[in-house]
Amino acid sequence: MKYKTIRGFRDILPEESIIWQKFESISRDLFKIYRYNEIRTPIVEETGLFVKSVGEETDIVTKEMFSFKDRGEREISLRPEGTAPIIRAYLENNIYKIDPCQKLYYIGPMFRAERPQAGRTRQFYQIGLEAIGIDSPAIDAEVIAILIRLLDKCGISNYELKLNNLGCSEDKVKLSRTLKELFSKKGTIKLLCEDCQRRLTTNPLRVLDCKNENCKNVIKNSIKEVKTLCPSCEKYFNKVLDFLKVLKIQYSIDPYIVRGLDYYTRTVFEVTQKDLGSQDAIGAGGRYDNLISDMGGPKVGACGFALGLDRMILACKRGIRGDEKEKNDIAVFIVSLGEEAFTKAFSLLDELRGNSIPSDISYEDKSLKSQMRMADKIGAKLVLIIGENELSKNEVVLRNMTTKEQLNIPFNDLMKTIKSKLTIG
Ligand code: HAM
Repeated sequence: MKYKTIRGFRDILPEESIIWQKFESISRDLFKIYRYNEIRTPIVEETGLFVKSVGEETDIVTKEMFSFKDRGEREISLRPEGTAPIIRAYLENNIYKIDPCQKLYYIGPMFRAERPQAGRTRQFYQIGLEAIGIDSPAIDAEVIAILIRLLDKCGISNYELKLNNLGCSEDKVKLSRTLKELFSKKGTIKLLCEDCQRRLTTNPLRVLDCKNENCKNVIKNSIKEVKTLCPSCEKYFNKVLDFLKVLKIQYSIDPYIVRGLDYYTRTVFEVTQKDLGSQDAIGAGGRYDNLISDMGGPKVGACGFALGLDRMILACKRGIRGDEKEKNDIAVFIVSLGEEAFTKAFSLLDELRGNSIPSDISYEDKSLKSQMRMADKIGAKLVLIIGENELSKNEVVLRNMTTKEQLNIPFNDLMKTIKSKLTIG
């Protein structure tokens, strides 16, 4: 019986993993510069957390969550996103009582049971951050600037930033009411899909993220007439745009962006990347001013984003850095001939690694030629050769793989010599 990964799940093999590590470390370094601290939350949460925050009528909650009952009959779900768990942690651990302003970031897997296709998996990774408790248009602009800077640092180009203003919760109620009136008109309602007809009574805003072509057309024709923003939300958003200009960030305004999650207010944004095909959303986010108080916390707002790490890797592979393959280079490879020489080599290997020198050995008894070939293949800079002859003289042969120079070095001088050779290059 050969087992396979479950549909929609995949392995990330070592060669690709190197790029993942690189993106993760670029992100961590960048977030540190902006004073964000890492938070790690569990992969499972109470299902209710997502129903309440992401929204009962959203696709994520109605169709995509991996939800089940645990052994204690509790309703739990694999997290479909990171924002709600972070706010739960912020409140549960009373972090806000020490300081309501918290800049937090996360890197980890999320789960959505969507139909798998290129760029869309059921387990995917997000790199995201949340600036909690800071109610200023400058922080919205800064959050967007971090996302853009991160894409640039990872060598991803060909992307486009689109923004929209959803307004405050009162504006959203007005928007919802207006959309309901528009879509319920005779002749219009029957053009909508069954799901959208239901959404008109449960949550009309969700009609705007329907993927059905007929619904999209109805939306396109109706949305132009909608003006529901209050003066203060208009002013706030204009300030965000001013700050984006200060930061020299290019954007366009897209009135169709409503985001598939209920918690957003005011600023929302999405970044698409042209090389990604149909799943071109590489990252997205926005402001959410009511989620924290709705979850029983203080009346503070927040703003954040999440980038899809899988999609970043795809965009990078298809983009300018596609041919840049990275290797896990080994500094020293030890070639040993015979059982006794292997035992000595094994102890030298431990010493090298103890000195933080990336090193490896051939664990199998192979010919000199085949061990040298292996050293070459893994890109070793130096090779140590130990046979019976070297053992009897308490020395090794040290070969520089670039210059081909060979020296006999006594065991006692070995670490010093290797260190000097490696720093000199
Ligand atoms: P989201 O737009 O649902 O937002 O997801 C963010 C990103 O996750 C997407 O742009 C995409 O790159 C990636 N993603 C989503 N689903 C999949 C999938 N099935 N396969 C591969 N990648 C996927 C959020 O999750 C919000 N929590 C973002 C946020 C943070 N808003 C405020 N703070």
